[in-house]
Amino acid sequence: MGTGDGRFVLDQAKKFPHKLCIGLNAAADALRKSSLKTQTKSERGGVTNALFVWANVDSLPPELEGIASEITINYPWGSLLRSLVLPDLEVLRGIARLGRPGASLTLLINISVFDNPTYCQKLGLPLRKPEQLGDVLSAAYCEVGIEVKHTRLLGQNVPYRTTWGQKLTQGSGRRQTLVLDAIIR
Ligand SMILES: C[S@@+](CC[C@H](N)C(=O)[O-])C[C@H]1O[C@@H](n2cnc3c(N)ncnc32)[C@H](O)[C@@H]1O
Repeated sequence: MGTGDGRFVLDQAKKFPHKLCIGLNAAADALRKSSLKTQTKSERGGVTNALFVWANVDSLPPELEGIASEITINYPWGSLLRSLVLPDLEVLRGIARLGRPGASLTLLINISVFDNPTYCQKLGLPLRKPEQLGDVLSAAYCEVGIEVKHTRLLGQNVPYRTTWGQKLTQGSGRRQTLVLDAIIR
């Protein structure tokens, strides 16, 4: 969800050829280049087990309900970040509906933004202490059947690379990522 340029989706599809990897993003332009790869044969650098969907998290396609065994949201921004950290329970229910029972949900959130209250307000984000965000979200997510198993704060050693993750964690200054691992009930 919020796949940006789709690099992570293509990487996962190559790494796990037996899986179908679906990337959803609100901005269609970002998906164009990676989408073309799904139309190209693998001998020519294409990826045949990936699919991209132009979709907003607040109105997800019903066709995708109940099909995911793993859901990943890497470095959300804009309305996606807002929905996840407020949190907006309706949006969370929509995300949870995508998963089969027992599906995993992994979030990687850049929390350095919470160090700057003025910027947070400008973005419509709630004011949160970065070190408390994991606990606040765990309690709220529980209400919609998303059971948070653990949360941790990481510096540069994030579990995998994405285009935005790389920009954020390799930039200057204090960059912290909240990793939240959950199960959909
Ligand atoms: C900072 S980028 C991260 C992109 C990618 N996950 C990465 O790590 O490189 C945030 C992405 O979230 C998408 N996004 C923002 N609001 C969204 C929404 N309401 N629904 C779906 N995607 C959204 C943006 O279009 C953008 O591609």
